[in-house]
Amino acid sequence: MAKLSGKNGKSSLILCRTSRGVIEKGIPIIIKGEGTRVFDSEGKAYLDLTSGVTRPVHVGHGRKDLAEAVGKQAAELAYFTPMHFTNQPAIELADTLSTITPDTVSNFFFVCDGSEAVESAMKLAKQHHFCRGEKHRFKVISRRGAYHGVTLLALRAMGTVLSMKHTMEPLTPGSVFVESPYCYRCPLHLSYPNCELACARDMRRIIEFEGPDHISAFIGEPIQQGFGALAPPPGYWELIRKICEDYGILLIIDEVICGFGRTGRWFALEHFGIKPDIITMAKGISSGYVPLGAVGCTDDVIDPIDTFEHIHTYANHPVSCAAGVKNIEILKQEKLIERASEIGVYFLESLKSLEEHSIVAEVRGTGLWLGIDFTVNKKTREVFPLDRLWNIVNRAQEKGLIIKLMGQALELAPPLIIEKSEIDEGVKIIQECVAEEEKDMGLA
Ligand SMILES: Cc1ncc(COP(=O)(O)O)c(C=O)c1O
Repeated sequence: MAKLSGKNGKSSLILCRTSRGVIEKGIPIIIKGEGTRVFDSEGKAYLDLTSGVTRPVHVGHGRKDLAEAVGKQAAELAYFTPMHFTNQPAIELADTLSTITPDTVSNFFFVCDGSEAVESAMKLAKQHHFCRGEKHRFKVISRRGAYHGVTLLALRAMGTVLSMKHTMEPLTPGSVFVESPYCYRCPLHLSYPNCELACARDMRRIIEFEGPDHISAFIGEPIQQGFGALAPPPGYWELIRKICEDYGILLIIDEVICGFGRTGRWFALEHFGIKPDIITMAKGISSGYVPLGAVGCTDDVIDPIDTFEHIHTYANHPVSCAAGVKNIEILKQEKLIERASEIGVYFLESLKSLEEHSIVAEVRGTGLWLGIDFTVNKKTREVFPLDRLWNIVNRAQEKGLIIKLMGQALELAPPLIIEKSEIDEGVKIIQECVAEEEKDMGLA
């Protein structure tokens, strides 16, 4: 395991998913953020097209108004238990969320991040069935290519071959996978619309095999990160919802990335008219200023449960919830959801010019969440080498631009306050990096 030494040479910091080799090359220490830019300890500025790489910073870096709301609540009441007592910011955040989530979602529970939200959602689904007497329902259906977090229940829904999954195996039992609606490289070798949504239809066969009365929930992001900001084809979500209903399976919609305006709507489920039983949220709920995740559910889900048998010390945390309330107020006041929708169209159009490159397969996106899929052969759609994708990310970083890699694609998810001039600046650098890599591969 790689480590970073502190000033006295005694302490060491363990980084997440960063190899010893990468650390030895030198890790930037980010000391300040302002709007769409961050600055490292050597004085280098970066344009951040990733909202902090893991994409939470919707309202931009370095906001005093949000920081002050956090400080005020910490000074007033920093902590009190989520059990048998409650606090005002948690009640207020639940109230606020009920005005922006689908009408039927009116019950909320707050945790520290997306993994805990997914973990809590799965436990809520399990307890719902348990309390109704369906004690065998524990399996969760996810999709190949999905990512839903790292706690053990969340990890079992991970549909990618990542060492973080394999290192932790064996996982909690109950993982069931169906294919993703990845039309550019259809896992079933079909094409839309002739496929008649085979990837969704196939779920019935899988449910019958697994035993319908053993399945608790289906979890999916409305727009999927795994292959790079991938929206499903029309009809996909209606069919998934119908199949869930037919078998009494709860539908968990994971809005951890998509929520709070990332795709130009409060929640990406609005693009598809999805009616969820449970929603998971995190990231943009507090814009990353403090750790916060949330679960929302319908009355039908919570009503059979007398006592929700779950607790985290920091559940319904007053300071985190106060940050959530203030963050949503900023999103509303500055009309950042509408802005993401409008400026996202400009960003997508600007990026489309990249498709002229021989190695760029497909540029796609919704709102301010965009993906650039690469290939070494546009006819066969052969997968692009991962180390080459990393080269593009690293070239960009050298030029002062932060972009990220997701699966076989590059992903862009800037703060929702981004200006057109900053998009132009970013697209120009991405163009240069792609051209340099293409040349290096002898494919220019
Ligand atoms: C869709 C989705 N769900 C859950 C998670 C887990 O969130 P966290 O990293 O905050 O635990 C992530 C993280 O990226 C995510 O993208």
